[in-house]
Amino acid sequence: MAFVSDDLYNEICMANDIVDYASSFLSLKKSGRSYMACCPFHNEKTPSFHIDRDKQLFHCFGCGASGNFVQFVMRMEGLDYRDAIKLLAERAGINIPENGIRQSTEMTKKKDAIIEMNRAAARYFYDMLMDPVKGREARAYFASRKLSRKTIIKFGLGYAPDSQDGLLQLLRGKGYNDKQAVDAGLAVIRRDKAVDKFRGRVMFPIINVRGKVIGFGGRVLGSEVLEGGFKLAKYLNTPETPVFDKGSNLFALNLAKNSNETDMILCEGYMDVITLHQAGITNAVATLGTAITPQQAKLLLRYGREILICYDMDEAGTKAALRAIDVIAEAGGRSRVIRITGAKDPDEYITKYGVSGFRKAVEKAAPSTEFRISIIKRKYDLTDTEGKIRFVDETAQILAGLSDPVEVEAYIKKTSADTGISEQSIFGKYTECRGKAKKSAPARTKEEYKRREVNRINSGKPPQERVTNVVLEAEKRLLSLIAQSRHLSLEAAAIMPAEEFSNDVYRRLAEKMYACAAAAEPVEASVILDSFSGDPAAENMAAAVFFNNEVYSDNDKTLFDLIYTIKKNKLEARINNAVDPQEIGELIKLESELDKERTEWGKHGGKTTEGPNI
Ligand code: CTP
Ligand code: MN
Repeated sequence: MAFVSDDLYNEICMANDIVDYASSFLSLKKSGRSYMACCPFHNEKTPSFHIDRDKQLFHCFGCGASGNFVQFVMRMEGLDYRDAIKLLAERAGINIPENGIRQSTEMTKKKDAIIEMNRAAARYFYDMLMDPVKGREARAYFASRKLSRKTIIKFGLGYAPDSQDGLLQLLRGKGYNDKQAVDAGLAVIRRDKAVDKFRGRVMFPIINVRGKVIGFGGRVLGSEVLEGGFKLAKYLNTPETPVFDKGSNLFALNLAKNSNETDMILCEGYMDVITLHQAGITNAVATLGTAITPQQAKLLLRYGREILICYDMDEAGTKAALRAIDVIAEAGGRSRVIRITGAKDPDEYITKYGVSGFRKAVEKAAPSTEFRISIIKRKYDLTDTEGKIRFVDETAQILAGLSDPVEVEAYIKKTSADTGISEQSIFGKYTECRGKAKKSAPARTKEEYKRREVNRINSGKPPQERVTNVVLEAEKRLLSLIAQSRHLSLEAAAIMPAEEFSNDVYRRLAEKMYACAAAAEPVEASVILDSFSGDPAAENMAAAVFFNNEVYSDNDKTLFDLIYTIKKNKLEARINNAVDPQEIGELIKLESELDKERTEWGKHGGKTTEGPNI
C-alpha cells in the first residue's frame, strides 16, 4: 500500500475535499452533518447515498458501497490506488516525488526500533528453544511434528517460555521501555503492568522479503489446551503494528521467492509450509491467519506465474479455496487447486504419500474453472434430467464471469460432453447469464443488505462458528463506539480481544483501533480504511463502522452491554450446536461465569487516566 508515505497521503487528502469532488457529478443535498444524493453505484430514485464531510467518507445505505475518499475516486473513475492518489495530487497541485516516500524521520525511527526488537526477540526465542532445560518440552513438540534441526534453524523457530517477563527484561536491558515493547506487539498490559505477550508457545517468526522479522505466530504445544475453563487460542499472532500488516505479507515468502519454481504454492497453515519446505518443496507460503487479500495475491504473483492453492480438503477449506480463486482472479492472476485427497491437510499428505505423491498432486492440480465446476458437479446427479439442467445452469453462471473466450469455449464443449446437452444450448445459457451478470442487482433495502452481509460472512463456516445478525450488529456498534474514544477502546481491549470478533474485517479493525489506543494515537478512519483497498466487500463493511455516529447517554454502559450481548449470543449458539453432553456442560458453566465476570467489567483493566481522551 505504501505508494506514498502516510504524511504525503494525508497532505494529498487534506488538500482535497470529497464533497467538493463529488459535487461535480452528483447533486448533493445537505442534511445534518452529512450530504445526500442518489447513489452513483446503483440505480435508485430516493437518495440513500451519504457523504460525511468531517470524516471524508462515503456510504450508501442502499447497496452498502462505502469507503474513504481515495476509494471513492477509485470506484468513480475506475482507477487503481496509485492512479487515484495521482489524480488527487494533481487536483491539489501536489508533486509526488519519484519514490513516493516522504516519510517523517520519527516514523522511520519507530519502525526501525520495532524491527530491532523483533530481531532480539527471535534470537531470544531461539535461544530458549535450544536451552537444555527450558527448551526441552518445545524441542520434543517439534520432534513430534518431525521437524529436523536444520528446518528449525532455516525458519528461525523458537520457544517463548511460560514466563511473565523474560523477553521484557531482555528488551529493557537493551534500552527499550515497556511502551515500545507493547507497540512492537511483544508485550501486553495486564492489570496496569507490562507482561510478555507470548508465553508457553512455540514461535514462528514472520519474515518479509527483505529479510526483516516483522512479527510472530505462536502456537500452543499440543492440541487441547484449557486454562481456567477457557480454551487457549491455538495460535496467537502479532497484532497490527507499524511494521506488521497481516493483509500484505506472507509466511515464508522470504524463502519461497528464491526457489526456482515457476509457480507459487499457497497454504493455510505455517506447519503445512514448513513441512513442505523440509520435503524440498520450497515454493510454499501461507497467509497469516486470515483469508488471502488482494494485496497478498498481487505480492505472490510477483514471484510466481500462477498460484497453486493448497488448502485443507474439508468444507471450510473448499470454501476458502473458492474465495481465494476469486481474489486471485481479481488481482489479475491465475490459480489452480492442488487436491490433497486422502489427508486432512498438506502436512499430513506429505507424511502419508511422500514428496513424489505431492509432486503428482501438483501436476494434476485443477485449473480454477475446472475446480469450481467440479464442486457444483458434486451437488447434482448427472444421470437425472433435472440434475443436468441445474448443473448446466450453474456452470453457465461460472463461465459468464470468465474473460477468455477460448476458455469459455473449451468448458462449454466439456460440459456438453458431460451432460449430452448441445453446445449451442449451453452457449445460449452462457450469453443469458452474461447479460444478467453485468447488472447484478444491489440490495434494495437495508435489511436485504444486512442479510447478504451475514450470509457472506457465514458462508463456509461450520454451524457453531456462524454469527447472527444480532452479534454482527453489536460488533459493528462496539467498533463505532471505540473508534470515538481512547478510554472506551482500552476498556474493550481488556475484555474483548480482537480475536473474538466474528470476522476478518472486524478483527482487523479492532486490532488497528486497539493499537491506536495503546499508542495514544488518534483513530484516523481514512488511513485505516486504506488498508482494505482493493477488496470492495471488506471496504464497505469497514467503512460502515465509521459511518455510524450513534450517541449514547452512558457510553461505558453501552460498551459493556454490547460486549455482553456478543459473548452471550456466541455462547448460546455454541450450546445450541453442541451435541456432546460434557461439552454442553462446560459451555453452560462458561455462560454462568460470563454473568459473574460482567459485574467486574470496568472496575479494573481498561481504565486509564494517562493520555488524552480522543
Ligand atoms: N490460525 C490462527 N489462529 C488460530 C488458528 C489458526 O491464526 N486460532 C492460523 C495460523 O496462521 C495457522 C493457520 O491459521 O497456521 C491454519 O490453521 P491450522 O491448520 O489449524 O494450523 P497449522 O499451522 O496447520 O497447525 P497444526 O498442523 O499444528 O494444527
Ligand atoms: Mn495443520
